[in-house]
Amino acid sequence: MYNSLLNYFQSKLTGSIPPISLKSGMEKRSMGMYILIFILGQTSCTDKQNVENQGNLEWNKEAAGVWKISFGSPDTINLLSELDITSRLDAIAEMGEDTLPFAHEDISFEVVDGKIYIRFPLEKEEKIFGLGLNFKTVEQRGRIMRLHVDHYGGEDDGRTHAPVPFFVSSRGYGALINAARYIDVWAGTSVRKDSKNPPVIRDRNTDPEWSAQPYSDNLEFLVPADGVEVIVFAGKTMLDVVRRYNLMNGGGTLPPKWGLGFWQRVPTLYTDKDVQNEVNEFEKRGFPLNVVGLEPGWMTRSYPCTYEWDTSRFEDPESFVEGLKEKHIRTNLWINPYVSPDGELYTKIKPYTSSHTVWNGLVPDYTMSEVQKIMTDHFKKHQLNMGVSGYKMDENDGYDSWLWPDVATFPSGTSAEQMRQIYGSLMQKVTTKMYQDENLRTYGLVRGANAGTSSFPFVLYNDYYNHRDFITALINSSFIGVLWTPEVRASQTSEEWLRRMQTVCFSPLAMINAWADGTKPWSFPDVAEDVNAIAKLRMRLIPYLYTAFADYTFQGIPPMRAMNLEAGYAIDPTLSEEAFDATENPYAMAVKQEVKDQFMVGPSVLVAPLFDGEKERKVILPQGKWYDFYTGALVGEGEVITASPGLSKIPVYVKDGGIIPLFPEITRLDNRKHPLEIRHYGNKPNVYELYDDDGETYDYKNGEFTRIGLHVVMDTEGNKSGKVVIPDGKNVWSFSDYQFRFMTE
Ligand code: GAL
Repeated sequence: MYNSLLNYFQSKLTGSIPPISLKSGMEKRSMGMYILIFILGQTSCTDKQNVENQGNLEWNKEAAGVWKISFGSPDTINLLSELDITSRLDAIAEMGEDTLPFAHEDISFEVVDGKIYIRFPLEKEEKIFGLGLNFKTVEQRGRIMRLHVDHYGGEDDGRTHAPVPFFVSSRGYGALINAARYIDVWAGTSVRKDSKNPPVIRDRNTDPEWSAQPYSDNLEFLVPADGVEVIVFAGKTMLDVVRRYNLMNGGGTLPPKWGLGFWQRVPTLYTDKDVQNEVNEFEKRGFPLNVVGLEPGWMTRSYPCTYEWDTSRFEDPESFVEGLKEKHIRTNLWINPYVSPDGELYTKIKPYTSSHTVWNGLVPDYTMSEVQKIMTDHFKKHQLNMGVSGYKMDENDGYDSWLWPDVATFPSGTSAEQMRQIYGSLMQKVTTKMYQDENLRTYGLVRGANAGTSSFPFVLYNDYYNHRDFITALINSSFIGVLWTPEVRASQTSEEWLRRMQTVCFSPLAMINAWADGTKPWSFPDVAEDVNAIAKLRMRLIPYLYTAFADYTFQGIPPMRAMNLEAGYAIDPTLSEEAFDATENPYAMAVKQEVKDQFMVGPSVLVAPLFDGEKERKVILPQGKWYDFYTGALVGEGEVITASPGLSKIPVYVKDGGIIPLFPEITRLDNRKHPLEIRHYGNKPNVYELYDDDGETYDYKNGEFTRIGLHVVMDTEGNKSGKVVIPDGKNVWSFSDYQFRFMTE
């Protein structure tokens, strides 16, 4: 009887995909029991078995290699629902089809204790990446977390600025648990009775191999909701999976070109005169400066905020912003979400705010169109129309002891928990749209984000300040479609200062945040020249970085990436323990040990930062030949090398055939064209598609951009030559002429 009931229910379900995994006869019987309870529950519904959603599972194909699964009754508000994302389906289609490494029914869904339990299978040697902006770990298998938007508190426990519930598996697939909820994760920590690959049973008394955490073949999630949507992404490589994820989220952001220059945030109570003096000092010292960031003191009240200029410190804000702009310096303003009773916004916004206040400020319900309009009008009047280029949106990650509690209510009916998970994303959407409506790109900072924000021009930062962990966060950001800056604030020693400056210059946003310390790039005189040199290198790299961001936008490739996403880290699920041999296969060995302190920038640059106190470090070079960025000399090939470049240099390597276009040493980005130095490394012919557009509008979305082909060819004698190919009739905005430089003899 149970079987015929089962067949009946299965035949009711859509598509050819079995709805839930029914493996053993034993399970089938208990499933039959659930269905029986379900039927009984139709007539007398007091039973709390929560089985009514068991059959409610649907798989839908969204794009090539992308499926959306819906189970039960998912919330209407999820991580993506409020963000108005337009997926780049054309780019995904171009990637072609891909399949998942297992049958659909191997992902199982159940209702447990009124919540949704999702299980993905894990194989031996499988690695799991992502699951939020973690600071200490890159591989997540073996960890337990509750993904919860929050300040990072020093532990990778799921509470972080972007706890994105998206994971990438080394088996060549990934999944987003698309729920704006606090999601529990057991990433390979538990053992089920029905395990396909149960751990070896060992005797603790006698077996030294006994482990308190036996082998697990489960990746499990628990979502406190009546249903859930899961988006699954296939890929031949993990990079393909990440690309599909980013492209579904609208493709990565393309910052305005000025955003990739150098940023200085000034002390909180600086006045217009103080800023002028600071700008003059930058000029005098020939130090790059492209964006000045003002901290809370620019406004009349902050914590809570008015978003109105304090004219006692900035007498004529419009002329102030205009004056900076004339010098090709943009203005970025700090804000947080909480509205002060003292400004003109208060009475207008009050009806659309939460039951609770934060720092005595109203909390706008950004899911409401009324709020989006009121805030946009206010921001336009006081900032955008005055020429302000963007925001640093602070405190939208919250912190339990001052944020709205989970009992707070919002007028739209969105729960406090859901709001917590998407508040930063919502603010990003609203401010991005405001600039986009003016056909202007913005670039700024944000402290809270979640899934779906790849296309928003914001970079995460925080108050935590461990240099190594900042680099691990930079690496992790590449798995989850967000950007991260290891901002520089202060340092104990000049060595630390320089080392931090070196890494920030290879990040999505090169910035000193001197809001509290008043530091300047030259604060440590003994390394001031080296700091200047690295900031200038940052400026030189802009054509390369901008192209890397274009690849993020059009192809979903993160501009700064974990080594695990690099070719050579090819997915090989059959890789056995023996394959990790230090002499024969050092690269594979390195893969087994998490790589937390080196990363890729663009297609061919590998950056391996040195940290305060280190004279040398090990660098893992993926397969193929690698060359020193500064000299062009061969440094190794698929091996572990020791780098000791001295204090003034950060170890940077270029892959064989790597082409790096460089600006001259400029300090400002005006609209002038610059000569381009095109460096080629190694001995491989190559083509690099340099990206160019107007650098500040959205016209590129209508095809107003050019890919300039930089070709390096070799004749039969091995002589290299370069050729620049500008497609007929295409505009060039940024480059005046082109000079090839072959770095390797
Ligand atoms: C913090 C933020 C700092 C700085 C400060 C100003 O919350 O993380 O970077 O902006 O506020 O009060």
